[in-house]
Amino acid sequence: MFKLNNLNLPDVGFGMYKINDFKIILSAIKNNYNYFDTASYYKNEDVLAEALSQNGLERGKFIIASKLWRDEMGYDNAKLAVQKSLENLKTSYIDIYFIHWPSLDDNLNIETWRALEEFYKLGKIRALGLSNFLPHHAEPLIKNILKRFGVMPSIAQLEFHPGYTQECALKYFNAKNILVQAWSPLGRGRIVNDNLILNLAAKYQASPQQICLKFALQKGVMPLVKSSSPERMTENLNLNNFNLTQEDMWRLETLPPLGWSGEHPDRERVIVKSL
Ligand SMILES: NC(=O)c1ccc[n+]([C@@H]2O[C@H](COP(=O)([O-])OP(=O)(O)OC[C@H]3O[C@@H](n4cnc5c(N)ncnc54)[C@H](OP(=O)(O)O)[C@@H]3O)[C@@H](O)[C@H]2O)c1
Repeated sequence: MFKLNNLNLPDVGFGMYKINDFKIILSAIKNNYNYFDTASYYKNEDVLAEALSQNGLERGKFIIASKLWRDEMGYDNAKLAVQKSLENLKTSYIDIYFIHWPSLDDNLNIETWRALEEFYKLGKIRALGLSNFLPHHAEPLIKNILKRFGVMPSIAQLEFHPGYTQECALKYFNAKNILVQAWSPLGRGRIVNDNLILNLAAKYQASPQQICLKFALQKGVMPLVKSSSPERMTENLNLNNFNLTQEDMWRLETLPPLGWSGEHPDRERVIVKSL
């Protein structure tokens, strides 16, 4: 369990990239997920709303995180983006709202943030987050927030998996008490056939995916994992019957960055091959 402002977050959240069928979300709820990570870019906020309404449990039982996209940056655009997310999600508040990718223009990040702060103050967003911000993007924004006595980010999403732990950003956010979440904690399948991970899976009698998820948790990072299969959904929450040794954690941390997505906020996307 992770603590964030007044929210209790589960160990593992459900990733919604490419989920377009509300039945998959109903299945995730049945398999004990209560945290859903969507984004305007995924075009499935309405699919999540449909699942939550069909499920019928009260809104307070779920944690909804969403994000505004690159073309929704700026004060006015960000306000429209949040309104649109609230409408798509058919909810009066969103638990966590992120800027999906930083702009390389610090002022644009600051203007966007100012709009999000207004929704926070109205109780329409409960916590604000930065996604894919590295320290050099976050620092000018945080300095500006402190100067204005504004609302600090309390959560940060980063690509994170064995071999790609973005240690510099992780240390920076940890030092500021900003919870880090892992996106693509399985490297979207690119690392699970690596020999190190297969050997550890055999040693701990776990699946390669469970090794990756446990690795994130033992680094103090909350993984967001996507699966469309009920069996794999259950497997991904079943992480309590083993602990990785320090040596094995070091092995996983020092794996070459085989699972890197090819995305970096300051660069053009690199097309990477699967293993
Ligand atoms: N902030 C950002 O910029 C950003 C970027 C990317 C992703 N995200 C978030 O992070 C979430 C997770 O990342 P991701 O979807 O890229 O990748 P991921 O969760 O690392 O990997 C998902 C893939 O692994 C498979 N899988 C899941 N559990 C498995 C298991 N136990 N055994 C075998 N295969 C398994 C899934 O297949 P099946 O569906 O067939 O099970 C799917 O193909 C996203 O859904 C999204 O919410 C955020």
